[in-house]
Amino acid sequence: MYDIKNIRSLFPMLKNKKMQGKNLVFLDNASTTFKPQSVIDAVVNYYSNETSNSHRGDYDLCYNMDVKINDVRNNVANFVKCNPNEVVFTSGDTMSLNTIAYGYGLKFLKPGDEIILTEAEHASNMLPWFKVAKITGAKIVYIELDENLKITVENFKKVISKNTKIVSIAHIGNILGYINPIEEIAAICHSFGAILVLDGAQSVPHIETNFKKWDVDFLTFSGHKMCGPTGIGCLIGKYELLIKMDSFITGGGMNVTFDKNGHVEELLPPAKFEAGTLDLAGISGLNEAINLLTSIGMDEISKHDKELHDYAVKKLENNPNIIIYNKDTDTGILTFNVKGVFPQDEATLLNSKGIAVRSGQHCAKAFTKLCENNATVRMSTYLYTSIEDIDAFVDALINGGDILDAYFA
Ligand code: ALA
Repeated sequence: MYDIKNIRSLFPMLKNKKMQGKNLVFLDNASTTFKPQSVIDAVVNYYSNETSNSHRGDYDLCYNMDVKINDVRNNVANFVKCNPNEVVFTSGDTMSLNTIAYGYGLKFLKPGDEIILTEAEHASNMLPWFKVAKITGAKIVYIELDENLKITVENFKKVISKNTKIVSIAHIGNILGYINPIEEIAAICHSFGAILVLDGAQSVPHIETNFKKWDVDFLTFSGHKMCGPTGIGCLIGKYELLIKMDSFITGGGMNVTFDKNGHVEELLPPAKFEAGTLDLAGISGLNEAINLLTSIGMDEISKHDKELHDYAVKKLENNPNIIIYNKDTDTGILTFNVKGVFPQDEATLLNSKGIAVRSGQHCAKAFTKLCENNATVRMSTYLYTSIEDIDAFVDALINGGDILDAYFA
């Protein structure tokens, strides 16, 4: 078991990297995360010692790769609590959501059907649905957020109807970091005969996931937001839905046979959705990322995120120049503005002090209710973030230098 308080030495970026000549304080973990040496080694080991394709060769290297893919599939299944044959490897959250939108939505939506989203979704959970709605004649409907910009079960009940076929929402929003009431929403969806697609991009890396218990229909996430490599992620789907829906990307590895007349016999899921050569180095790295998270414990990780968030809030909330939009979130996302300072200027100022945060609309461009210009600064923590990181961030924010002095004067 790893102790979360002692984890930083595992991450080369934290040891090696300076920014603006200063120790790097990385607080943009909702965007992507650093990789521990074990993940980097697993990727390098694939290229140095294991290189072969999967499912396509009658030699040991290829066989070993097939065994490894099965092992990692089992590891993912244990991690999110589903069956191994419900785990599809994709390039990430975006590809997973597109696969559902085009594979399920395009097949089953009809004119007049409704897809429920919220205005706070990031682009990956909006744009595929816009396209599929346009093609099928389905309508997009939004859950009205409450006065604190949270999703409530009451407001969800106001928009769901017998026309609803698909509900697709983030488990944890990428701007305010609120944890949405997924189990209740799933039960209501099913009582109306709709399915629930859960975008787990911000939740799977940070809180315990239980696909079976929550009874959601699809779950999507990316490896790179949970210490894994870029370019690998997962689509989890109830097996009966994976069987029913169409393949999205077609090609080698997903068919049993085809002929020149265009007759194609597809493999059963999950292979049906894994056309082309898989990101085998990525799968190897994802395995190690899951091993690290499991060995720390998801409860420890979420507790750590919340402690750091609350610590930052405590230090900043009495400062009249700082507007915090999500003081009460249970995750490690803190979204704010400094009065009179353009968010990108604030992020640039923090960068000059070696602190990385994200500014702007955070890929959620339809979310216009937060503040006047629809732009904020976001700091987000992860398992290796320290109290000292938050102290450095708060200090830079309060004693900001030129930009802030100009305003504070
Ligand atoms: N959706 C990612 C973020 O919130 C990229 O930064």
